[in-house]
Amino acid sequence: MPEPFYITTPIYYVNARPHLGHAYTTIIADVASRFNTMRHADTFFLTGTDEHGDKVVQAAKNENLSSRAYVDKISSLFRDLWPELNIKYDHFIRTTDQYHIAVVEQILQRIYDSGDIYFSEYEGLYCFGCERFYTQRELVEGKCPDHDTAPEIIKESNYFFKMSLYQDWLIDHIKKNHDFIRPERYKNEVLSFLKEPLEDLCISRPKTRLKWGITLPFDKDYVTYVWFDALLNYISALGYPDGDLFKKFWPVAQHIVAKDILKPHGIYWPIMLKAAGIDIYKHLNVHGYWNIDQTKMSKSLGNVTEPLEQKKIYGLDQFRFFLVKDMTFGLDSNFSEEALVQRINSDLANDLGNLFSRILSMAHKYFNGVVPETDPEAEEELKPGLEPDALTAVEEFEKEMEIFAFHKALEAVWVFISSMNKYIDVTAPWVLAKKKSAKNQLKTIIYNLLEGLRIISGMIYPVMPDTALLIQKHLGMDVSEPFYTFDRLYAWKRLEPGTKLLKSITLFPRIDLKKIKADIKRQTEAGDRVFEIKPEITFEELAKIDFRVGTVVHSEAIPKAKKLLKLEVDIGEKRTIVAGISESYNPDALTGKQVLIAANLKPAKIMGILSNGMLLAAVDDKVCSIATFDKKMKPGISVR
Ligand code: ME8
Ligand code: MG
Repeated sequence: MPEPFYITTPIYYVNARPHLGHAYTTIIADVASRFNTMRHADTFFLTGTDEHGDKVVQAAKNENLSSRAYVDKISSLFRDLWPELNIKYDHFIRTTDQYHIAVVEQILQRIYDSGDIYFSEYEGLYCFGCERFYTQRELVEGKCPDHDTAPEIIKESNYFFKMSLYQDWLIDHIKKNHDFIRPERYKNEVLSFLKEPLEDLCISRPKTRLKWGITLPFDKDYVTYVWFDALLNYISALGYPDGDLFKKFWPVAQHIVAKDILKPHGIYWPIMLKAAGIDIYKHLNVHGYWNIDQTKMSKSLGNVTEPLEQKKIYGLDQFRFFLVKDMTFGLDSNFSEEALVQRINSDLANDLGNLFSRILSMAHKYFNGVVPETDPEAEEELKPGLEPDALTAVEEFEKEMEIFAFHKALEAVWVFISSMNKYIDVTAPWVLAKKKSAKNQLKTIIYNLLEGLRIISGMIYPVMPDTALLIQKHLGMDVSEPFYTFDRLYAWKRLEPGTKLLKSITLFPRIDLKKIKADIKRQTEAGDRVFEIKPEITFEELAKIDFRVGTVVHSEAIPKAKKLLKLEVDIGEKRTIVAGISESYNPDALTGKQVLIAANLKPAKIMGILSNGMLLAAVDDKVCSIATFDKKMKPGISVR
């Protein structure tokens, strides 16, 4: 029996709806898990939601809901999305689940009893966005690198976890286990961070400031820091300490995260485990960001892509394929519908789709849709044939999947697809079909091609499960048992001669992006789009937004950003504001215009420029019209 396989995604914060970034991580985990079933491994795939902490309380308030009602609502958005994306997780954990809370209490108590948690007064720089203290050297120009806001100095008595005690141990562990953190760049990042002395971790929040959390078992006036709570999900979900799942899967645990949460996973988590006397996880697999216009896709920036929308327009397997193929695991990647369509048309419609329909059509034309028999003599003549290439592809595929190099694993499959296409061109079955004497050759060639398709359908299974199944059905295979296991893929000639094939279909229709955009526009104009108004808010909530009259003093294009303009706006003080309006406005046309500004929006970095406020505009597909005033007003006047 192969080793069991345990894979986790981060548990996502429920402060906003799931987007493409979350979908990527969870799809990758699904791919890894399905890959392991190809090896007959027992697999366990965990995902879930992180539901405590300031951020959630804030988000609940913004929606006028109790924290409990709010977390229930958002958590189910995540839970319901995954099956829509064909993601087969084994367990969905919520940090508000009782069994999880019990484990957090137990571990806190244990570490406290062993003397690694102490109480002390602390004055430090606290970022409310990150819910943590920062040291001076972690700040960029005095600001939080994630939120670009200056942290506040707060002074509090709190509980601290003596992480510094374990620093040397951790450095040693990382060095001894060279692929503990992978790809290597992230291992180096953690090691370089560990060159400086580690500070102890503040693991409590006084209830006077935050109630929504797990109470410290040794001090009821405090709740625990969200990260201390959240990380423990990876063991509580397995029924730590005595559960059978824990015994079976914890020794082989692998996590997947993006680089935003490298530090809690690469530093806090192994140290927490060590301090609690629990074995350390096996691998931390770290990927980069999906960006839009070179900026991280994130809910706080509001530049997110909805996975379900993409599925609806382009198809689920197409979308999954694009995500896996277009991101080199570990590096950032830019998302655009142009890139997605390009992949679908070239790799899927042209390469795989064409190959499939060419082969099936020939099998129908020459052999009435029945798998022909190979002929030993013809086989000899046609050597080496496709078998060696198929074997190489499967080996390469397995090797790359194993180390999370998903894009390379798919490359190996596509190398084989292109050898198959070449094999057709070189053997030219349509020429042989005209010669009676070449019947045996023709049979052998078509058999080999069908067999090649069978191997391809197995290899694409983890990434495109529906397409894999569809190909198998067309090959007349028994799909009631797993057809994608490696024992079947390493064996050539499993297809039974005499099997009836289905008629060819178009696996991946070619996509015309212009047409899709035009359709969407037409539907919008025809009023097909559901008219939906956001939930009601109170006057007090509206009054929180500080709207002002602004006069545009200067504006310029931002190099490399397709849609963005950088504006200098006078709102009584000078503000820099980045606005996505350059497809409708030339920079020169804006100077002197009076515009409507939301002035107290939290500043955000867009393409490296700090945008301080937002310009309001009506947007209809690509056309946008900025909100202006019909009388000249003094800049900075409040709008009510
Ligand atoms: O950090 N590109 O939750 P979170 C790629 N609750 N992946 C992205 C992404 C992007 N633009 N945006 C988000 C938390 N992700 C904590 C985790 S775990 C014990 C606690 C994915 O909702 C990626 O996996 O902010 C990233 O690490 C994660 O979502 C962050 O999710
Ligand atoms: Mg985040």
